[in-house]
Amino acid sequence: MTEWAWEYEGYDPSQERLRESLCALGNGRFATRGALAECSADQIHYPGTYVAGCYDRVASTVAGRRIENEDMVNVPNWLPLRFRCRDGTGPGESAWGPWLHPDTTRILEHRQVLHLGSGLLERRSRYADPGGRLLDIRQLRLVHMADPHLASLRTEFTTPDWAGEVEVESSIDATVRNVGVPRYRGLDGRHLVHDLAGTESPDIAWLCCRTRTSDVRLALAFHTSATDATPVRCLNTRTRAVQLLQFPTQPGRTVTVDKTVALHTSHDPAISDPLHAAVDRVRHAPGFDGLLASHRYAWDQLWRRAELDVPGEAGLILRLHLFHVLQTLSPHTAELDVGVPARGLHGEAYRGHVFWDELFVLPYLNLHFPEVSRPLLDYRHRRLERARLAARDAGHRGAMYPWQSGSDGREETQRLHLNPRSGRWLPDHTHLQQHVGSAVAYNIWQYWEATGDVGFLHAKGAERLLQIARFWADRAAYDDGLGRYRIRGVVGPDEYHDAYPDAETPGIDDNAYTSVTAAWVLTRARELLGALPEPRRRELTERIAFDGGEAELWRDIAHRLYVPFHKGVISQFDGYETLAELDWDAYRTRCDDIRRLDRILEAEGDSVNRFQASKQADVLMLGYLFSPADLTALFAQLGHTLDDATWQRTVDHYLQRTSHGSTLSGLVHGWVLTRARRAEAWKFVHEALLGDIADVLGGTTGEGIHLGAMAITLDLVQRGLTGLQTRDGALWLDPAPLPELTGASYGFALRYRGHWGGWGVGLRMRRGRVSITVPASDRAAITVQLPGRAVMVRPGQSRELMLPD
Ligand code: BGC
Repeated sequence: MTEWAWEYEGYDPSQERLRESLCALGNGRFATRGALAECSADQIHYPGTYVAGCYDRVASTVAGRRIENEDMVNVPNWLPLRFRCRDGTGPGESAWGPWLHPDTTRILEHRQVLHLGSGLLERRSRYADPGGRLLDIRQLRLVHMADPHLASLRTEFTTPDWAGEVEVESSIDATVRNVGVPRYRGLDGRHLVHDLAGTESPDIAWLCCRTRTSDVRLALAFHTSATDATPVRCLNTRTRAVQLLQFPTQPGRTVTVDKTVALHTSHDPAISDPLHAAVDRVRHAPGFDGLLASHRYAWDQLWRRAELDVPGEAGLILRLHLFHVLQTLSPHTAELDVGVPARGLHGEAYRGHVFWDELFVLPYLNLHFPEVSRPLLDYRHRRLERARLAARDAGHRGAMYPWQSGSDGREETQRLHLNPRSGRWLPDHTHLQQHVGSAVAYNIWQYWEATGDVGFLHAKGAERLLQIARFWADRAAYDDGLGRYRIRGVVGPDEYHDAYPDAETPGIDDNAYTSVTAAWVLTRARELLGALPEPRRRELTERIAFDGGEAELWRDIAHRLYVPFHKGVISQFDGYETLAELDWDAYRTRCDDIRRLDRILEAEGDSVNRFQASKQADVLMLGYLFSPADLTALFAQLGHTLDDATWQRTVDHYLQRTSHGSTLSGLVHGWVLTRARRAEAWKFVHEALLGDIADVLGGTTGEGIHLGAMAITLDLVQRGLTGLQTRDGALWLDPAPLPELTGASYGFALRYRGHWGGWGVGLRMRRGRVSITVPASDRAAITVQLPGRAVMVRPGQSRELMLPD
């Protein structure tokens, strides 16, 4: 592997799904899995293409119940390109051999390289067909980063030692379904209807269809051309647009076949209809070389703004993660009404839904692509009305955001989920994760602090923040006995605890994460209200009928929410300490992998709700969101002393009781341990870096990447190791270098508050020093706040500062 190439050697059917996810190509508008072009969907291969924001809702009956699910649609497959050989060239020559396929034909060599710098997937294979003929293939694939409606596939065919003919069938296939996740196969996955294929001109064919209930019109047009081929023949059926071509081969000669595809949907702006737009676009598209040149150029520009310079293997993995983040959320995404899909545009797990994961993605984007963050925040704003309706339906004021969101912002969390271990469909109560609202609020604040975008904060940001605060204020109920406010009947980030053991109703009470973040939201909302210019404050308070009494109530709740403690540690929720201790060693010995402890216990007729066992960081998430000083202050506001010893005990407590059933978990733990300067930090960080590439959750990466986890690894370098914060108008740094990185030099550039001449504000850590470079401009100097001192760095200046030990 070089620093910019992600490579796979050999063909391994068992690894195919994983490689397809990790070699997916996308441009923020659509993405296509890295499946081999000659393979269609089966047990081994799954060539999915997904368009950001293209959802469809269908109903299914499972376990005797009718349930509706909204899926990110697997749109027609533009990849298919298969090939076969025969000796001789004329009509009476030998018959065609079979279509070559890695599972039925001998594949002598196979290599895939994902070129991260240029966004190209290269593949080289040598097939030996049953007639003993060798066919060498080199294929280059791109999903265009400059024109987000185009994709292209170049295939070079070389016959090393025989003369004859090769036939290539290039097509677009609308027979695809959403069947990429085995657990969902009991659900209806047919989303495409009214398919129609046609031919525009001798060399351009097209296919169009609609989604079944959301009625999104989709059109793909393509042309296939070859050096030296017989004219293309079109052989369309209703569900497949097909172009067929044949070319003679000579020993050692290479013939190149290019396929270029345009994809449009009725969601696209500035088009009259998708079919016309797709045909028009493909007709005017340059050849592969031209497309490649503009595609490379667009990637160069992205990397200039995003590059992280970390040495060694970790650096390569981080670059791969960054590559996938940028393919899911690129400047093209900024044109769309979409949120942050938890599994990228890379597969069908979680149905393309939007969870709280933007909490882990936006901090990175804010400091490099704020123009992408902002529309992602707007996605939530456009669904504010829906969140208000959801709150009202639940009997509350304010806005209650859904745990899983899709097209229109209604709650998309499934009400039943399958435990593949027991085969049982079980009630799913995870929609009670109302803490997602605090994540929406936190992201507004983070964006504002990183960008200084007051216009956003005072307009949409403020309205949303106030409505979320209002929800928390209404949701919290005063408990006379405790003399505190309580938020009861929720689920925290740890999804293992969705009810008290044997309880009739779901939900747990006083989840510390939910209550502390609610207190934070209430505090920020009041602060913002005070800081708004008078006309805007008036406008907003009139609009949402806000009165002074409400502000007082918010203050009271923000100081008196109940946060339980036990044995000197913060309790995950009220009554947590009464749960049984799990015999972790016994489970580790008995089961290969205990990450999904919930499934193991349920399959044994037990319930994880009975135990002090967490799926993922819950209380410790507080250490991810807030610096130690901020957390101490928040707890002090709530009337608790959170000193370092209490926090360290809390970290130990949950560290020993977490199974890491979510990829987010190891990273959040790695982050918290790094910030707490603990020796185990590197173990978590290192393991977490391997999360997707080694598919540590056993098969889940093949169903889509874990976008949040990938983004945290980037942010771990950017903010976790450096202690970087953007607050109170300054850049705060408090590096906590891991011993494993001592001596290593790593750096990155930020786009901070409009400073982005050159590569932006450059930060480099090296042996107890940090150097900061601010690009020349007429902007104000930057205040850098190090532990115990503040330093000004003016535009055009570079300073190297010693860090305290
Ligand atoms: C985690 C959630 C996360 C979701 C999507 C779940 O397994 O528990 O915290 O939001 O995956 O990534």
